Amino acid sequence: MMSLHDDRLLILDFGSQYTQLIARRVREHGVYSEILPCDVDPLRIRAFAPKGVILSGGPESTTDATGWKIPNEVYDLKVPLLGICYGMQALAKELGGRVESSDLREFGHADLFIEKEESLLTGLSDEGSLSVWMSHGDRVTQLPSGFKVIGSSDHAPIAAMADEERAIYGLQFHPEVTHTEGGSELLAKFAHAICGCGREWTPENIINDAITKAREQVGDGQVLLGLSGGVDSSVVAALLHRAIGDQLVCVFVDNGLLRLNEGTQVMETFAKNLGVRVIRANAEERFLTALKGEPDPERKRKIIGRTFIQVFEEQAAQLKDIRFLAQGTIYPDVIESAGAASGKAHVIKSHHNVGGLPEEMRMELVEPLRELFKDEVRTLGVALGLPKSMVYRHPFPGPGLAVRILGEVEKHSADILRKADHIFIEELRKADLYDKVSQAFTVFLPVNSVGVVGDQRRYAPVIALRAVETIDFMTARWARLPYEFVERVSGRIINEIGDVSRVVYDVSSKPPATIEWE
Ligand code: XMP
Repeated sequence: MMSLHDDRLLILDFGSQYTQLIARRVREHGVYSEILPCDVDPLRIRAFAPKGVILSGGPESTTDATGWKIPNEVYDLKVPLLGICYGMQALAKELGGRVESSDLREFGHADLFIEKEESLLTGLSDEGSLSVWMSHGDRVTQLPSGFKVIGSSDHAPIAAMADEERAIYGLQFHPEVTHTEGGSELLAKFAHAICGCGREWTPENIINDAITKAREQVGDGQVLLGLSGGVDSSVVAALLHRAIGDQLVCVFVDNGLLRLNEGTQVMETFAKNLGVRVIRANAEERFLTALKGEPDPERKRKIIGRTFIQVFEEQAAQLKDIRFLAQGTIYPDVIESAGAASGKAHVIKSHHNVGGLPEEMRMELVEPLRELFKDEVRTLGVALGLPKSMVYRHPFPGPGLAVRILGEVEKHSADILRKADHIFIEELRKADLYDKVSQAFTVFLPVNSVGVVGDQRRYAPVIALRAVETIDFMTARWARLPYEFVERVSGRIINEIGDVSRVVYDVSSKPPATIEWE
């Protein structure tokens, strides 16, 4: 029987910022793909036995002696190869062509003229040209023998090349980015028509495969999961519940720093609607006591992380015979901790995350999402019956509201902030703006600003609204929310909460500002 991973492509990473995108695009067409760094142990390339290899772009130049080479094992596989940008240049150079650095860096849109003869590119455009995304300094100036030009642009007469006999292809542009017209279809054509891959990588098959594997791994053992209400742990809960039912026990730690009604919602979704065993640990007081008198953001994060572990361990200690610990590790975490392409183009996000558990817990890990990208996790979540509003929710930091209350955290401020946040998010949803921004929240500023209520002057704290648009959360632009909308939110917060004197809107982008205020 065909299995989910049988038809697979290898994406060899030369350090491009787009490498993960290539893998995602390929998977969107139902083909499993995995990323390995270009300097990986070549035995792993052979062992992976892909039906085709895509060589990514990268920051280096093949005209430098130090530029990465394509491992011999890639050629030895005798499967179709597709080089993108640096990948194309490396292919051209190693197979006997010529690559030159050009004075003109081509960056952005370019028109690609497609040769008439049938090739990887024909059929992608009715007009005979495509608007494609270029980002490179070098270009191929002489074809290796056996190759022909299949596409050209004004600055790159050899913008796409092919050796049909050996099924080796090179593209100077980036088909994986959405700005490239026909790019996704091109990758689909490579995966299906050229490499002969089927379409096995579907949500249903992924779920079935994960269920089978989880059952095999845990047998009749009990599995513990820290459920935070975030997307990853929620999907793990839904998936494992389907796989092993009551053998899964979730612990949900309510640290008192969650959004309005969040604890109740988590319990409703999982315990009530799905029938998952969830133990709710109400630890608000414990967290607030631990945080008392501490204004420093990093120390607040550490206190929360430490307290979380204590509470979680205490809960786990009350359960008997637990041998497995489930975690929502996803594929980008796996790639980043492995350090793709010697970590060159990959900046690793390091946050003091809550939820990291100490090694002494000595339980075997169950990580059913290890192979999946975030968008795949979301698709699975919906397929498993989780509410869309939960699966497509903005990210929420582990330390919760504690990093949105500047300085010392007190219950009174957390309560005000929760209400303000609720109003802001509710209005965003009503105005159909929630999904148009990447993250939105409110911040509590413990400064007393004056206001007038009736004839009385009143001094009360300030609430800041923050909304950003971003793709990777490494850089972000403040969202241009309509004035009328901001006015409505401001009015509701001041009138309904009562203990807020004014509302301000944060117009700082990242960098130099960060998304959170602490
Ligand atoms: P910054 O503020 O660094 O945020 O621009 C980038 C993204 O990371 C989230 N963030 C955190 N997430 N623990 C987390 O789990 C944290 O301590 C933390 N600090 C920031 C932030 O919400 C944004 O999505």
